[in-house]
Amino acid sequence: MFIDSHCHLTDERLAPEAEQIISSMPADGLDGVITVGYDRESSLAGLEIAAAHERVWCTLGVHPHDADKADERTYEEFRTLASDAKVVGIGEIGLDYYYDLSPRDVQREVFARQIRLAHECALPVCLHVRDAYGDCLDVMKACRTELDHGVLLHCYSGSAEMVREFAAFDAYFAFGGAITFKNARRNLEALAAVPRDRLLLETDCPYMTPVPFRGKTNYPRYVALVAERAAEVLGMSVEDVAEVTSNNTKRLFNKMK
Ligand code: NI
Repeated sequence: MFIDSHCHLTDERLAPEAEQIISSMPADGLDGVITVGYDRESSLAGLEIAAAHERVWCTLGVHPHDADKADERTYEEFRTLASDAKVVGIGEIGLDYYYDLSPRDVQREVFARQIRLAHECALPVCLHVRDAYGDCLDVMKACRTELDHGVLLHCYSGSAEMVREFAAFDAYFAFGGAITFKNARRNLEALAAVPRDRLLLETDCPYMTPVPFRGKTNYPRYVALVAERAAEVLGMSVEDVAEVTSNNTKRLFNKMK
């Protein structure tokens, strides 16, 4: 059974189908999913879905894209909600210098502030990092003592060398549809460099749809396609990949049962 460690059931493309997606999880080989927040609204909506469904968990966070809309009132609200049994992490938070939708200094400040929030809530962080791995490490080093409940690099797109840098933070790494793409050589090298006990699977649905459905809407059930590719690359059986990654997910997001 797989766990999709990063999906967006509240996205407008998936929300109309969310009930059906969740009810077919056992038939699709899914033991659980984490629906990830990216702003106040999606975080609150994710908690509502998680609260209503046994095998759905959620995270609360403000994405770097929306960093310039983050405020103390939102963090305060997140802090109150974080004690809910279904809230397993703070995220997705981080830095995105590819789209640069919020000023970079604001992104760094909001990232650091939410690392502190995770520390206050005793929760792991789920990081979104694009074209900003160097600055991400700098922020993490500055906040090192507050990164004491676990770190996940979601949709990891950094290098194999960088995997070793993040190991200093005992980080976990999640891989998704990108490892099924033709031009995935760099991602596959990174995948191979990740210790087996630090590896997670995800879909990031409705985005990042794996081959052969690339270009269409992504769903949690396609995590099986990611697992098949990972198994091929790592020389493992799909069953072993499922077991190892599910155990890792539950160890990191330890409010999951
Ligand atoms: Ni995402």
